[in-house]
This record gives sequence, C-alpha cells and structure tokens, in this order.
Amino acid sequence: ATSTEKYRPAFHFTPQKNWINDPNGLVYYDGEYHLFYQYNPQGNRWGHMSWGHAVSKDLLHWNELPVALNEFANPDGKSVTMIFSGSAVIDYGNTSKLCPTGTKDCMVAIYTSHVDEKGKALAQHQSLAYSADKGRTWQQYAKNPVLELNTNEFRDPNVFWYEPQKKWVMAAVKPDEYSVLFFESKDLKSWKQMSRFGKQGDQSKIWECPSLIQVPILNEPGKSRWVLFISSGHRQKGYVGMQYFVGDFDGTNFKLDQENPKPASPEWGNVVDYGKDYYAAIPYNNLPASQKRPVMIGWVNNWEYANDLPTEPFKGAMSLPREVALKRTDEGLVLIQQPKISGLRKQVRYQQKSLTLNTTSQVIPQTVASPFELEVTLVPGQAESQGIRLYKNGSEETILSYQAGKIQLDRRTSGNVTFHQRFPSIEEAPVTLQNGAIKLRLIADASVLEVYVNDGKAVLTDLVFPEKTTGQLELFTKGGTGEFKDLKISSLTAK
Ligand code: FRU
Repeated sequence: ATSTEKYRPAFHFTPQKNWINDPNGLVYYDGEYHLFYQYNPQGNRWGHMSWGHAVSKDLLHWNELPVALNEFANPDGKSVTMIFSGSAVIDYGNTSKLCPTGTKDCMVAIYTSHVDEKGKALAQHQSLAYSADKGRTWQQYAKNPVLELNTNEFRDPNVFWYEPQKKWVMAAVKPDEYSVLFFESKDLKSWKQMSRFGKQGDQSKIWECPSLIQVPILNEPGKSRWVLFISSGHRQKGYVGMQYFVGDFDGTNFKLDQENPKPASPEWGNVVDYGKDYYAAIPYNNLPASQKRPVMIGWVNNWEYANDLPTEPFKGAMSLPREVALKRTDEGLVLIQQPKISGLRKQVRYQQKSLTLNTTSQVIPQTVASPFELEVTLVPGQAESQGIRLYKNGSEETILSYQAGKIQLDRRTSGNVTFHQRFPSIEEAPVTLQNGAIKLRLIADASVLEVYVNDGKAVLTDLVFPEKTTGQLELFTKGGTGEFKDLKISSLTAK
C-alpha cells in the first residue's frame, strides 16, 4: 500500500498505529500532561475500546505509552467490558484510599464500563481504575461499577474537584434523553445525584461527552461563568458537532445565565467549532496555577465518515490544545478559543503589508511546507468573495474565503474526498467585521486545518487529504476588489 504518513500531523497527536476517537482523562500532574484516548489496540476501525495513553510536557510533543486500560472479558464468558470515555483526576493525599496505603497522590480514572455481547450493549455504568505511578500501570477498582442506573445509555463521566464544597462533581449523559446528570461524591466511590440539565439547545443528535468548567471573562477582569460543553449535532444535518451553554453552577445545579439565557448567535446556536472535525472535546483537570485559562482538546473527526478516513496504519488525530475564555460582546457572552502553541518556534517565511486584488489571483512566491501558520487580515471591498487557496496543486485546492457575512472553508476539491460521500463539504461560520476587517489565523498541519477567526470568536476545524502538503498558496478576489493586510506565513517547528 502507498504510505499515508504524509497525512500524519506533526503537532497534533496521532497514535503510531490503529484507531482513536475521544480524548479521555485529560489531567496534568507533576510536569506531565496526560492524554488518554479511546483506542482500538487491534485495528484501524472502532472496536475493542480501551484507553490508550500519551504524555507531553507542552501539549505539542507527545510520547505514546502502553495502553492504560484494556477491554476485558467478563466472567460469564460471553460478554466483554469495553472502556468507554471518561475523565481522570488527581486525588491528592490518596484520600479515597483507592491507591495502596502510603501512596502520595492517586491518579483515578472514572470511565464508562460498556458491557457488550456480540455488538449489543447490555449495560453502561461508571467505573474506577487507579494508578499509584503517574498513570503507567493501573488497577481496576474491585467494587466496580460505582454508579449504575440500570440502563445501557448512560455514559462519559466527567469529574472535577469542586473546592467551595470540598467534593467531587461528575457530569454524565443520558444520551437519548438529551440530558446531563450531575452527581456528587466525597470519596469517588459513592455517588449521589444532585440535578439534571437538558432538553434544550441542539437535540438533532444524542448528547455525549459533557464537561463543566469555570471560564474567565476576558474583558471583565476577575469575573467568570460556568460553561457546559456537550457533543451533539451539527448545523449541517446528520453530522456531529459541539455546543456550549453559559451559566452558573452553585455546587448543585447548573443554571443558564439570567443575563445571557439565549445562544449568543440565535440563528446559529452556541457552536463550539463550525468545521466538521471537532468532537468530544474535554478540558484538562489540575492545570498548573500559571495556566490561567482552561485548556481543551478534541477529536479531529466526524462520526459520519470517521471509520473510512484514508489513513493507515493510524486513524484519527487530536486537535491542538485550545485555551478557552469568554468575551462580553454585543451578542452576549461568546466563547473565545485560541491554540496554545507558544511551545513552537515560528519562523516568518513570507510577509506582505498590503495587497489589493480586483477579480484576480496572486500566487505566493514562497512555498511553505506544513506545518505552517498563516495570518492575514481581510478588508473586504466590493468583491463577492475574497480568500486564500490552500495546498494548491494542479486541480487540488482547499478554499478559505469570506463572503456575505460568512467565512467558508470549502474542501470539495481538497484532494482525496471520495472515500466517503459525506466527506466533501463546505463549512460556514458567521462573522462580523471588526473595524471593517476580518482577522484569520490558519494552522495547517498535514491533514488537519484549524482556522481561528477574529481572535478565536469562531473556529473551523477540518480534515483534508491533499496529494501534497507543500502546495502553493494563492490569494484571490472574485467580482471586485478586496484588500489583504498584514499577511504573514510562518513555518512551525519544534523549539
Ligand atoms: C463519543 C462516544 C462516547 C463513547 C465513546 C465510545 O464519540 O460515542 O459517547 O463513550 O465514543 O468510543
């Protein structure tokens, strides 16, 4: 087979081989960021779900470790327990006594045990595993499961420490009820339900992978809100995507913000990412104090075609780490996301102060291989559309453009799009001009494109599979004039 290593990104995590989906158990401890993830140790499609494991010092360079939690066979001899999505926490001082006596701090994974018999779900409940050696080796808790509702649709526990009441809080979904349940515990072992939130926002797809975090408001120093993230549907029918809710959490209930009860963008909803490939994102637990904003990582893929991506021996990638914040705007409180890539060396390879085009195209004389960053400010004139053709190579190109109040990312001619009929697509995000302009920041890392619009007010993440990731870049306007300001293209390398 021809190698598909050219599609492997440099700074987005991918496994050496086999299938991955959701990030799990994101936790920082003792200088290491842990990334656990849904992993099939046996193949390149979804199955035998286990928790793979990688660690990093900067969230950009990853070291893959042996599988942390393996699918296991049950005593009945017929069913298996798969390790579905969940979270991890540090139990400082081993207060839960899960780890052996004398363990300083205990790393605890709270995951969904999915009991499966021949592809049929018999049960989904929440279970614990613990590690006394920084996640290198794990034991299953002898009295699993710790939380059981006698249903096969109850999953994705996301646990965090709630300091004001010195307790653990868990969010978990009832997917087909479009609801999140909140539980509390003092010891991680016994859980009590506190409240429920749901049946609002996007319900076009089941709800999965909830998380609740306190998020600072950028332009109101010292203030914050609680944001509930849910993986569910997408504005384009049938695809999955993510939404968020802004509100308050008093330790028991999550309530939508009184001042901001409606989505910031009524027509679009509270969309986390307008691309097709950002799902199941969760935040880091136990971040170092120097890290002022929450950091999230998502799975770069979409269930519509996930299993059929044209890569081997690996399949699936994680997003760049994203710092999240809120910003008070005319539309209310909106989510701001920015890639956390200060750990990379940026070398400017091409820049241009200003260029105005009138229904023409201009190739950038310098070709820059991925990974690269492209920053530009578009100042629309009369042009119908204005933008950049990426990874241009013969008839292949991915088009990032602005027209009529929207940013578009068109991957219909981006390269290999035929592996699944739902893959070729055009993504759209609403955008309002800021001082007559739109700021774009693209990070291209082989098959992963992340586009941050107006300092992170909107993000579009998409996979593309071009023949070459060293293709040309070309600026264009159609049907009139448009200005490109402060264009800067930088290569991204390890520091
Ligand atoms: C989300 C999800 C989760 C589940 C996991 C199984 O992508 O469906 O709800 O725990 O994947 O791999």
